Amino acid sequence: MTQSDPTRRPVAVITGASSGLGRGYATEFAARGADVVLIARRAERLEELAATLRSLHGVAVDVLPADLADPAAPQVIADRLGELGVRATALVNCAGFGTAGLFENEDPARIAQEIAVDVTAPTLLARLLMPDLLAAERGILLMVSSTAGHQPTPNLAVYGASKAFVTSLTAAIWRENRGSRLRVLAVCPGPTATEFFEAADSRQFVVGRIGTIAEVVSASFTALDRHSGPVRTIGFGNIARSVGAKFAPRRLTLMVGDKATSGKK
Ligand SMILES: NC(=O)c1ccc[n+]([C@@H]2O[C@H](COP(=O)([O-])OP(=O)(O)OC[C@H]3O[C@@H](n4cnc5c(N)ncnc54)[C@H](OP(=O)(O)O)[C@@H]3O)[C@@H](O)[C@H]2O)c1
Repeated sequence: MTQSDPTRRPVAVITGASSGLGRGYATEFAARGADVVLIARRAERLEELAATLRSLHGVAVDVLPADLADPAAPQVIADRLGELGVRATALVNCAGFGTAGLFENEDPARIAQEIAVDVTAPTLLARLLMPDLLAAERGILLMVSSTAGHQPTPNLAVYGASKAFVTSLTAAIWRENRGSRLRVLAVCPGPTATEFFEAADSRQFVVGRIGTIAEVVSASFTALDRHSGPVRTIGFGNIARSVGAKFAPRRLTLMVGDKATSGKK
């Protein structure tokens, strides 16, 4: 086991660490002196990142390859963390993917995987690691949601609904734990330059500018440092659109969302 004394340093468990935002969060936690546990399917990528973080920041890194679409994965991960003697002080639920297109054309098997990865796995991992997070000196539960969860999202229907779940769940957990040492945050980025659009098998269905991984990671840590949960939307344009979506008539919001994601004029 590569984990150093778990009582000495914070330990961040990060899903989706093989790419994009998850990789960014892992790098930032390591730069801040935390040991990290990297989770995703692509083990070679995780090993590469682990080597980089060990040599750059001198932290301990464990790699736990896992397919979060497997219903057993959250419990297997929690058990493995226990075997490694890891007591998580931070959990970043970042793994996720979307599927672009009309709901009627979506592959039912892929829908099931999407819900497993975007909804079930982060919910169960949060629940399973909650005792450790609550016991930590400065525990962190960071749930990566999306502006797609601020309103129903035509052409990304399952994804938007999944992210609405994540935001709602996180806000409730935040409220339940107010007054505790645990910092709970749902971070809602807008379109960000990662492999997300490729994974969603789509051209970029983008409203507004495309943000960077560095912007999202930095804004997340600022919000965590300021205890400014439960929900943080990243970027002024995205905040403005989310406020608009909240107050505009639902049909108008749906029309705008449909145009944005379908490319219709
Ligand atoms: N990019 C955006 O525009 C944007 C905007 C708002 C929110 N988000 C959210 O940000 C999070 C990270 O996405 P990203 O933008 O960084 O995209 P990304 O570069 O495609 O990264 C997605 C990550 O999720 C992991 N993942 C996907 N399916 C998995 C599975 N079955 N089991 C385990 N891990 C799995 C991938 O790892 P493996 O493929 O190696 O398993 C990868 O590490 C997601 O929750 C996404 O919904 C993204």
